[in-house]
Amino acid sequence: MADVMEKIVSLTKRRGFFYPGSEIYGGVGGIYDLGPLGVELANNIKTAWWKNIVRERDNVVGLDSAILMNRQVWHTSGHVESFADPLVECKNCHSRFREDILPKSKNCPTCGKNDWTSARMFNLMFKTHIGPVEGEANETFLRPETAQGIFVNFGNVVDTMRVKLPFGIAQVGKGFRNEITTGNFLFRVREFEMMELEYFTFSEKAEKDFDYWQKERMDWHISLGLRKENLRFREHESDERAHYATRSVDIEYNWPFMGWGELEGIANRTDYDLKQHSKESGKDISYFDEEIKKKIIPYVIEPSIGVGRMMLALLINAYTEEKAPTAEKGESETRVVLKLRPGLAPVKVAVLPLVKDEKLIKIAKEIYKDLKKEWNVIYDEAASIGRRYRRQDEIGTPFCVTVDFDTLKDKSVTMRDRDSMKQDRIKIENLKKRIGEELN
Ligand code: GAP
Repeated sequence: MADVMEKIVSLTKRRGFFYPGSEIYGGVGGIYDLGPLGVELANNIKTAWWKNIVRERDNVVGLDSAILMNRQVWHTSGHVESFADPLVECKNCHSRFREDILPKSKNCPTCGKNDWTSARMFNLMFKTHIGPVEGEANETFLRPETAQGIFVNFGNVVDTMRVKLPFGIAQVGKGFRNEITTGNFLFRVREFEMMELEYFTFSEKAEKDFDYWQKERMDWHISLGLRKENLRFREHESDERAHYATRSVDIEYNWPFMGWGELEGIANRTDYDLKQHSKESGKDISYFDEEIKKKIIPYVIEPSIGVGRMMLALLINAYTEEKAPTAEKGESETRVVLKLRPGLAPVKVAVLPLVKDEKLIKIAKEIYKDLKKEWNVIYDEAASIGRRYRRQDEIGTPFCVTVDFDTLKDKSVTMRDRDSMKQDRIKIENLKKRIGEELN
């Protein structure tokens, strides 16, 4: 099963989903760039999340806070003190690893020896300086989570948006972690996008809301097409939880390279962060409850997931190899298909003239231009029609529209469905409506 990963890494590089960061200089550990198809996939995932979390609810608002924050934020939040992983060094080859994710044998993954230094805690935040002076007073960190931007703006949102408890503030944005050990492609990287919701609620309702969000989030993963049998909940033991959480449950995915592992985390952060910021900033960060006529500091339930990790799960879930007849000879060949939900596919439609004929090309280009106003559409006239279908299957394009010689007579085209490979004859004038319906 692990070779599925190799195939996905190779396909997504070859077809412009992901490139190793700064590749021409030999790359940089745990950093990937999104190519033209990767950025479309990421945007579709973020849009699906935003729609489900913000747009479709009347008690969640959005936010986009700055990556750089006052250094005090990270002291107050406990990240300077506690956002660290245990680091060990191999005494033989001096490779460094995160102690808690060493292989079961405890042998060094680089040289095979089992001779380690004792663990020391390594803080995962990237340090930087604001302004031209590099003194401690100007030091701050690249944010390791977007959540703190939400907490420090809690008062602003309450004052400006007339929100009523319980309500949520959602944010999608970059996070940075100087991970000791990166790897498994997009699974553990040093720069990644996060989709985070901080759901503020009454302390006495927090447990019920936790259960609610657990179910909501699992339903979302299933609605995006992840197979149920590869998803499960896992409750954290008390010694695994982040410093701010009293309860954490992961939504785990059954990864081909490691078995069950975290896809998304859901945490009960209590009133920890708001209380801390209130205390350290000296500002009153509370919510006035009209019913009981009292100020309260709400509890927070937080579902949080990385866009890259979600992309990886969706790609693994979608990657399919199956026997299919070739378009030309009717023989059987292996076709690779990314069976992504059509709404998530980076390219929605490919428009293809059957052969390089001027008249066919002219119509195909007109259709292409028209469809492009609505969706991300590709025009392709190179290679045989069979080869072009396979190229689209491989990147998950749900529909191929082919202009052939009959089109000149009946103003119709064929629309090929990626998964069934069935072809329907459709009037050009009805094409847009039909694709729109299929994508919904
Ligand atoms: N604010 C909560 C928080 O940061 P987390 O469990 O540390 O919680 C949330 O991270 C999610 O971010 C994870 O479930 C995972 O999807 C993603 N994530 C965390 N570290 C990552 C990394 N190094 N590379 C890729 N994704 C990561």
